[in-house]
Amino acid sequence: MSLKLSLSTSDPLSVAADLTIVVVPEGSTTKSGPLATLSKALGPVVAKMLKRDEFTGKKDQSIEFTTNGLLKPARVLVLGAGSGTLTTSHVRTLAAKTARAAQNSKVTSLVFQVPEVDGGVRAAAEGVVLGAYRFGKYFTADRGPKAPLEKVTLIPSGRANKHDRVDMEVGQKIGEAIGIARDLINEPPNELYPESFAKFCQEMCKERGLKCTVLDKAALTKRGLKLMLAVAQGSARDPRLIHMVYTPTGKPKKKLVFVGKGLTFDTGGICIKPAPGMEDMKGDMGGGANVAALMAALAVIKPPVEVHGLIGAVENMPDGNAYRPGDIFGSLDGKFVEIINTDAEGRLVLADVLAYGRELKPDLMVDNATLTGACMVALGNLTSGYYASSDELAESVKRAAAAAGESMWHMPLLDELREGLKSDWADLKHTADRWGGSITAALFLREFVGQTPWVHVDIAGPSSAHRAYGIHPKGGTGHGVLTFLKLIEAYSG
Ligand code: BES
Ligand code: MN
Ligand code: ZN
Repeated sequence: MSLKLSLSTSDPLSVAADLTIVVVPEGSTTKSGPLATLSKALGPVVAKMLKRDEFTGKKDQSIEFTTNGLLKPARVLVLGAGSGTLTTSHVRTLAAKTARAAQNSKVTSLVFQVPEVDGGVRAAAEGVVLGAYRFGKYFTADRGPKAPLEKVTLIPSGRANKHDRVDMEVGQKIGEAIGIARDLINEPPNELYPESFAKFCQEMCKERGLKCTVLDKAALTKRGLKLMLAVAQGSARDPRLIHMVYTPTGKPKKKLVFVGKGLTFDTGGICIKPAPGMEDMKGDMGGGANVAALMAALAVIKPPVEVHGLIGAVENMPDGNAYRPGDIFGSLDGKFVEIINTDAEGRLVLADVLAYGRELKPDLMVDNATLTGACMVALGNLTSGYYASSDELAESVKRAAAAAGESMWHMPLLDELREGLKSDWADLKHTADRWGGSITAALFLREFVGQTPWVHVDIAGPSSAHRAYGIHPKGGTGHGVLTFLKLIEAYSG
């Protein structure tokens, strides 16, 4: 059952719904606007409640009224917009939070008044879909949702715009595309493994008119992605390199490559991880899931740039055939790498996939990966860390993340730490000491990108959430996709 979104220009308080959300500016009273309508219908209790709660429309204030049949909506939730200007990411978050609250309180029809913000309708549609997201595939009988949200009506404030309908549809489809990333992350590792991940991408691409090529173990061996194959050695599930392409009609303005770490499960290999929490490592393909979602969204937005999506899908297992500390492998780039810790597998897979992507001669290559615990130690688990090959590029990522409302922090590629990657036996080793672990992982990746303008985003923290917050549900979030879409927009101009 999918959520039905529609658009209306009626007064929100005149439309029947289980729950209606109206947003009022700071300084609102019962003299005008929706509070006046409520006061007229429900009587002096409205003014009394506003006084009791000191509700004036300050940002993050909210007050709920039950209408007892005196108005079309059964319940009205009034949200404060505050005095500052609202942004699209405020609107997206508000819409997501209300849709999630609706899902959790048996509300099946919701009316959402969209605050007057440029791009507000699209953001509201994205937010509603993101907030209503659930992963209920493996629940039976009474564990299933009781009264899922079915119908959402968006009512834009201010004058109706002829773009509103298209904006709403695009917003809904972007929200649904991000749902693809979340589904893939939440899918258990016995169901989602390199082969099934590749099959999923092939079907998704076919449905959406994108090209998709999959390199299996034989093809990877032939091409020489030796580091990726080394990580895969211990698993009974063979690796796949998934290569998706979006081509615009007309001459592309730019060529962009997005790379995702696709570890469908990371046990740590021979350097095995402790058992508590190991199940979370089903989400170690979060970067790859984002790339699949991004490609799905591009098929809808159709930007004038060529975009390649690459996923290194591998499972890291301990086994008689597993790679070991002390092993030395060549790589697609040609450099030899000494293995130190088999749990630092992501950077090995990425090294080969980045070298593969670099051969496409893109104007920009962006990788994203649940790469290091160290990045979470540095920034907490709600923020990703990004590295860029130039300061200008870092600025454009900063702008994209801000516009998308995603929490990302610029991290430095400290050359002083490069020494830690020197090996006594090969060109490089893949880990240095404990200190600056997110930075040394990025420095290792840099060895494989050549002169290509490059961004690396370590999404280890926010790719999965331990509780719902903002636009994110518990579990897979798709954090990163909205920023990448903004970045692509910037390269489309
Ligand atoms: N997939 C993990 C990183 C990770 C940890 C992601 C927790 C999300 C949550 C990665 O493969 C890993 O194990 N990294 C090691 C590297 C170390 C051995 C140098 C780490 O961070 O401990
Ligand atoms: Mn690992
Ligand atoms: Zn990993």
